[in-house]
Parts: sequence; C-alpha cells; structure tokens
Amino acid sequence: MGIGRLSDGLAPTPPMGWNSWNRFGVKIDENLVLETAEAMIATGMRDAGYRYVVIDDGWMAPNRDRNGDFVADPEKFPSGIKTLADRIHALGLRFGIYTDAGTKTCQDLPASLGYEFRDARRFAEWGVDYVKVDWCHTNGMGPRALYAKWAMAFHAARRPMVLSICEWGRSRPWEWAGAIGHLWRTSWDIQPEWSSILTILDRQAELHSFAGPDHWNDPDMLEVGNGDLTPDQNRAHFAFWSMLAAPLMAGNDLRTMTDATRDILIAPEIVAIDQDAGGRQGRRLWRDGDIDTWVRDLATGGEHVIAVLNRGSATREVRIALEDIGVAPRTNVRVRDLWKRSAVGKTRREILIATSANSATVLGVSAG
Ligand code: GLA
Repeated sequence: MGIGRLSDGLAPTPPMGWNSWNRFGVKIDENLVLETAEAMIATGMRDAGYRYVVIDDGWMAPNRDRNGDFVADPEKFPSGIKTLADRIHALGLRFGIYTDAGTKTCQDLPASLGYEFRDARRFAEWGVDYVKVDWCHTNGMGPRALYAKWAMAFHAARRPMVLSICEWGRSRPWEWAGAIGHLWRTSWDIQPEWSSILTILDRQAELHSFAGPDHWNDPDMLEVGNGDLTPDQNRAHFAFWSMLAAPLMAGNDLRTMTDATRDILIAPEIVAIDQDAGGRQGRRLWRDGDIDTWVRDLATGGEHVIAVLNRGSATREVRIALEDIGVAPRTNVRVRDLWKRSAVGKTRREILIATSANSATVLGVSAG
C-alpha cells in the first residue's frame, strides 16, 4: 500500500462485457465476434451495462509483418481488426483485445516482449479500448516493471485503453497494480465448476481494501451459462462476483444462451450491486462450515447488501444480527430479496435466512 492509484476515469465501476476465452478458446473469428456483439444488443445485455467485446488469445497470425507489427490471423479475421473494431463501435459497444507480456502467448502465438510501444500504438490505431496483457513465457521477469512499461506505452499511444493485468495473483498484484492498470487477476483460471468458483471466492476474502474506482480485483471472467453449473450455482457465482465488485465479463455463447442464463446476467438488482458507485468491494463477515456470510456497503452509506452462500447439500437457517453489518441498534430496516426483486419485510434486530443447497441468498438492507 502507500502507492498511488489510477484515477483516470476509464473504469469508474468494474468493466462489463464479454470475452471469447471461457467458451471458445482459440476457436474465434470475426463472424463469432460480430454475432456476439449483435446478441449483446438483442438480449438486452448492452442496456444492462455490458460494453466491452474482447477477443482473447488466438486472434494473431503466427508471425509479425516485416516492420515487426502484429498481424491478425487472415483466415479468422479476413477483414482485419480495424474494420472489426469499427463495426463494434458502430453498435455502441467497445472493443478489447489480448496480448501477452512475454515471448509467446499461452497458446504459443506471437506476444509483446520488446514490442510494447509498437503494439500499444497498433492497438490504438485499430481503435482498441481495452487490452488484456497475459503473463505466459515471462521467465525471470518482474511483473511490476513490465506492466508499468505497458502503462507508459498506452500513454505514448495517446488513446485511452483499459489495462487488464493478468499474472494470476502470483506476485500479490493487489499491492501494486492499482497504480498501473484498471484490473488485475487475483487467481488462476476459472473453470465452469462449482469447486473452482468456491476456490476462487475463498482467495478474495482479504482483498476488499485494495479495490475501488479505476482499480479492481479480477477473480476471472464469468462461467455463467457454461459447463454443468446448475441454475442456483450460476446465480451464486454471479451474485458473489457482484459482491466482489468484479469485472463482469460474460464467458458464454451469447447467441444461443437460454433465457434463464440471460436473466441471471442482466438481473438488474444484482448488476447494481457490482456497479455501485462507491466501489467498495464486499467482505466476508464469517465462515461457519458450509455457510459464508458476506456484506457489501453501498455508496449511500446507509444501504448494505448481505449475501449468504450455502456450499453444502442441505438447506440451512442463518441468523444475522443487524449490528453485525454495522446497522445502529434499534434502527428499523427494510429487507429486500434482490434476486426476486421483492420486499421481504422489516426488522430492527435480526434477519433470518433459509438458504438451500449450493445457492446464494442476496438481500438488500436499508433504513426505513
Ligand atoms: C491464460 C489466461 C486466460 C486466457 C488464456 C489464453 O491462461 O489466464 O484467461 O487468456 O491464458 O491462452
């Protein structure tokens, strides 16, 4: 701590969008990206706040051109990246791209070591708004210095671009990355499995003090709608990422998702937690066996969100005293179910929650 934080206004709330990696890996092309951008609009995701369409690893040709510039894979992106970015912008969306700080990407494609200024300039010329910089093939290098070089390269390229730092939480980036980039991964890659979501969540419990406007912890992109996650698990994953003020980068196929998946991704009162203007990341109050209780304080000061996670396979009852979440004694509060979007009731002492197996209950608490 004790170092400066970015405050350039590029990510005042956690970035929201879609990234190709979790669902498509390197099997990406311009049609997929454009269809996804259109689906983002048709499904209501753009209106819900999703803005960035990001292509991850696998977009580049195996070699740079003779000037040393990046080239897009001509089979996957025959129209070129600039044209793609223009079309994304014409839809009222923003465009993001991926590179790697080392000698090769994680898929052994050309990466940016030694080309930082050239690549930042090229991205700026293409109209890129967001760059994820990965950390494969960086033997012996210090992430802090190398990512700082990227921040300088962005500055020299004279285009505002969100910098997404992706060194998987190895060097405690929460302690330094807020001065350099807008978000930093805090863990290894997510999988579309309940155990992966819980493992990542547990790594976030102590990180809340490091996040805020323009600098966010990134527990990785969403798996909502992927793999065999149940509806309750998808909801729990999404609710907890919102409690964490995490970047909400959908990672599923937006063109074919079910209405149930879409309803989770655009749930207005859950997205509103994530996007709360105060930017105060939620924290774990306690863990008691299979039950986690987390709280997030909202911008107004008087409002709180309680999220109770039941990791186990049995329904459980949980009691939370209002004083445990910082509400003054004898204050009357209203309790609201933020998934159901309906009032639960009023109380001045405690809240009783019945939570079913593998699910999260999310309640808004406000004075009145
Ligand atoms: C790393 C990153 C992932 C993804 C892949 C691409 O594993 O952590 O998010 O970008 O590389 O190869």
